[in-house]
Amino acid sequence: MHQTHVHSTFKKIYNIALIGCGYMGATHLDGICEKDNVMLRCVCDTHIDRARTFAAKYHAQGYESDYKKVVSMEEVDIVIIATYPSTHLEILRECLIHGKHVLCEKPIAQDLESGRAIVSLIKSHPECKVLIGYILRHNNTYQRVAEMIRSGAIGSPIIMRMSQNHHTMDWQRYLNLICETSPILDCGVHYLDVMRWFTVAEIKEVSGIGLKTEPDVPEGKYNYGIITTRMTDGSIAYYEAGWSNTMSSDNLKEFIGPKGRIRIVYQMSRCNHQEEGDLIEYYTYPEGKYEIINVNCNRKPTGEQLQELIDMIQGKKFGSPKIEDVWESFQWAVKADEIIKNKL
Ligand SMILES: NC(=O)c1ccc[n+]([C@@H]2O[C@H](COP(=O)([O-])OP(=O)(O)OC[C@H]3O[C@@H](n4cnc5c(N)ncnc54)[C@H](O)[C@@H]3O)[C@@H](O)[C@H]2O)c1
Repeated sequence: MHQTHVHSTFKKIYNIALIGCGYMGATHLDGICEKDNVMLRCVCDTHIDRARTFAAKYHAQGYESDYKKVVSMEEVDIVIIATYPSTHLEILRECLIHGKHVLCEKPIAQDLESGRAIVSLIKSHPECKVLIGYILRHNNTYQRVAEMIRSGAIGSPIIMRMSQNHHTMDWQRYLNLICETSPILDCGVHYLDVMRWFTVAEIKEVSGIGLKTEPDVPEGKYNYGIITTRMTDGSIAYYEAGWSNTMSSDNLKEFIGPKGRIRIVYQMSRCNHQEEGDLIEYYTYPEGKYEIINVNCNRKPTGEQLQELIDMIQGKKFGSPKIEDVWESFQWAVKADEIIKNKL
């Protein structure tokens, strides 16, 4: 990240403000600190100590506890919103009023009504570019698998088996998230998006079940859920997400079709050569051949994601995913979440 205003080229430097100095806020700043076209103007958190620590660590020019002060700073070009979903609508509205471009974390909101309000707000401010942080869209491994499946590598229809379970080492952090949202709404939006992205089909129906296995999860909330979906091309999928003190962590991503199978082996799950990136295991039928593709991949490429927003601002890209795609995955995740909650 640039520390000075003096530049030898005419490259536009974008002044960034980060709101929310938590886990994802740090992931954003880790990913953008190498970029030579951004400068960290300000970091903000309601917990001023967190903002102060972030400012020192990432060399921000200033820090604040009131996001309204930050979004009204004239010199700020782009605001990154990395707070919980229930705050996104209010902060985003303020950003757009002040003409800022925004990178906003997913899920867009915590309920359907606020999500709808966010989409219409974004559409009513075409002068401001807004990208929602669907990080998998910028991940090299997922991009490669999307290309393979979309070009018929495993045939169609497909079965998508996906899980993301966390053995929580910081239960309080996850409990806060459960009180605010749910594993299915929080992470499911990524994978409902993957289902549509990989198949180029629409979600036709969704169902789900869930359970609370931790005593301090409030009534009406759950810490483990599984959803099933059927797509318009006949493909089906499940996504399983759980956060608990006793569950083992796992991360299955497998796609099976009549002509073959693709499985993603994350860098951290490889037995060796982890420094080389993720693996895509590709099995073809009837040949019975295996191909192992190494993808040099950063799991959360927040730098590339921010560059996508900058490309949108410069009119080079429309942005991925489009807000219509964000809405589709969000509204199906809300539907699945409601089905689960009604059966608890
Ligand atoms: N894309 C991904 O892979 C990914 C991964 C994890 C989390 N997330 C998303 O990122 C968002 C944040 O999650 P997290 O895990 O970083 O949470 P976190 O609790 O670690 O951090 C959130 C921070 O925002 C601050 N905050 C809350 N309201 C604020 C406000 N009004 N003004 C200023 N600061 C405020 C909190 O004090 C906290 O420090 C959520 O929407 C979550 O779903 C995305």
